[in-house]
Amino acid sequence: MLIALAAAWIATLGSLYFSEVRGYIPCTLCWYQRILMYPLAGFIFIGLVRRDWNLPYYVLPFSVLGIFVSTYHYLLEKTSLFDANTVCKQGALCTTQWINWFGFVTIPFLALMGFLIITIMSIIALVQQQPSLEDAEGEPVRMPWLKVSGTVVAILAVFAVLFITGTTDASAEQGSAATTSAFPMASVTPGPLQAVSSDATVARGKDLYYQVACAACHGMNAEGVPTLGNALAKSEFITGKSDADLLAFLRAGRDASSPDNTTGVTMPPSGGRPDLSDDDMLAVIAYLRTMQ
Ligand code: HEC
Repeated sequence: MLIALAAAWIATLGSLYFSEVRGYIPCTLCWYQRILMYPLAGFIFIGLVRRDWNLPYYVLPFSVLGIFVSTYHYLLEKTSLFDANTVCKQGALCTTQWINWFGFVTIPFLALMGFLIITIMSIIALVQQQPSLEDAEGEPVRMPWLKVSGTVVAILAVFAVLFITGTTDASAEQGSAATTSAFPMASVTPGPLQAVSSDATVARGKDLYYQVACAACHGMNAEGVPTLGNALAKSEFITGKSDADLLAFLRAGRDASSPDNTTGVTMPPSGGRPDLSDDDMLAVIAYLRTMQ
């Protein structure tokens, strides 16, 4: 259960790190996973300190449900088994992949690993359960205070460093992303990169804007959504940039910690849809040009 405790604390603090330091926006499904994970950080701690042998019975309903939610969320992100728009109708999209380490490690994937570790450890604890608080010699077992608190304090210390350095790290990263506007895109001849503003392209861009990539954060008619994306209609930022520069901006996104950031919220790289082609992005740009 000590391992389960560590997993719950790492998951809880990791999730807070992503939302509070990196500025990623939790979607509806993320909130359900948080509801199931955060309490575990508390009651596994209390159960261990009190040596409650029933602890796995309290933990398992949460962790098993968590496995289902995370698996569903992960499949939603990575496959087209489910209709992506059924759960997250407002706010951040469920399909936005804020991180995608090695091409498969996304945040729901990390949550799934956390719930799995907690579930497996709880099952092991159940199987090895001891009937009393006395060891083989009849001596009462010492309170595991030190072990339990030690685990939590060690994890807290690691995350304290992450939280403190997180902002500076992120801005350093952003700095390098900003210099990528010396990124090949910007210097390429504007010819093939220009958004072709034929009616068909604008219609396709509009479709992508509303159905796929941008509307959840930037709102209807590109008017913006309070606390999410800002307005893109009548935007000096857009009129002041070439298509190639805008494309480079969309690919890079803008981290919450970037000095250029105006809202304190992260614009994810490619609007969270790295799978969209340059052609798709240029179509979205063509649509946005019609809103200026
Ligand atoms: C998950 C939310 C989210 C999604 C999805 C998203 N954006 Fe953003 N976007 C933001 C936020 C937040 C900002 C504001 C960043 C800041 O404060 O500087 C932003 C800023 C921008 C800006 C710069 C505006 C300015 O005035 O500085 C452009 C352009 C933009 N987004 C275009 C898009 C396009 C096009 C899409 C779809 C492909 C998209 N965004 C998808 C959140 C999002």
